[in-house]
Amino acid sequence: RLCYLNGEILPLDEARISPMDRGFLFGDGAYEVIPAYDGRPFRLPEHLRRLDQTLEGIRLPNPHSHAEWAAMIARLLEAAGGGDAGVYLQVTRGVPEVRDHAFPLDARPTVFMTVSPLPAPLGPEAGEGASAIRLRDNRWGRCDLKTTALLPNVLLRQEAIEAGADEALLLRDGQLTEGAASNVFVVCNNEVMTPRQSPNLLPGVTRDFVVELLRERGVPCQCSAISADQLARADEIWLTSSTKEVLPVTRLDGEPVGDGRPGAFWRQARTWFDEYKA
Ligand code: PDD
Repeated sequence: RLCYLNGEILPLDEARISPMDRGFLFGDGAYEVIPAYDGRPFRLPEHLRRLDQTLEGIRLPNPHSHAEWAAMIARLLEAAGGGDAGVYLQVTRGVPEVRDHAFPLDARPTVFMTVSPLPAPLGPEAGEGASAIRLRDNRWGRCDLKTTALLPNVLLRQEAIEAGADEALLLRDGQLTEGAASNVFVVCNNEVMTPRQSPNLLPGVTRDFVVELLRERGVPCQCSAISADQLARADEIWLTSSTKEVLPVTRLDGEPVGDGRPGAFWRQARTWFDEYKA
């Protein structure tokens, strides 16, 4: 496997980063995961805009222009042989002389990228779907920033896995926010809804794409508050992310969601998503 590190493409196992890197010491960095289909990045401008927002939010100047990022990503994807893949990129606040919480004056950002295979998405004929459990959202107040400091997300996802589920659906003050590493859609009484954007959830690129896709094709989709009660009564629940695309959740805390099978709204969204990708 190949990676990109500070201007160079090299085998992943030859990449060397200092243990003094602030990404390692503090989780002090921003990241993106960008899907590429047939060698072409999907929604790249949207991912790069969100990277800008994260970097601005953590006060780290973006070391590259969008054109430079696009060229670097294209180079890496080509070197990796094209096909379907996920590009992981991260920018950290670099390598200071000494460990100090305050921003270093001397460090240059560390830029790292790698390419991984994308898991095959669940097709419209999916039998089972995924399972989820509900957990209290105990993360910080800036979940709209895509930072590498993911320990709460890691612990929440692990709790879901150990409960035999695939994802944790998070509730803060009685309202649904998102998954440990995904956004959430809910279908109630033939209405598609997703939590309204706020500092408590990531502005998912896939989420925005699905909202757009539904609205363009005449399916209303509300961005609004979703209560614990609405989640519990949902006929359908979907997860969206750059690696999951649109995935139906058919069991919530061990109980079937709706009739326990992937729903009709999901099948429609899934089909439209595939048409758009092709
Ligand atoms: N995670 N919310 C959280 C907390 C996430 O980590 C992610 C994505 C999403 C979905 O965002 P998008 O549609 O832009 O991928 C929502 C990535 C895939 C990850 O950490 O691996």
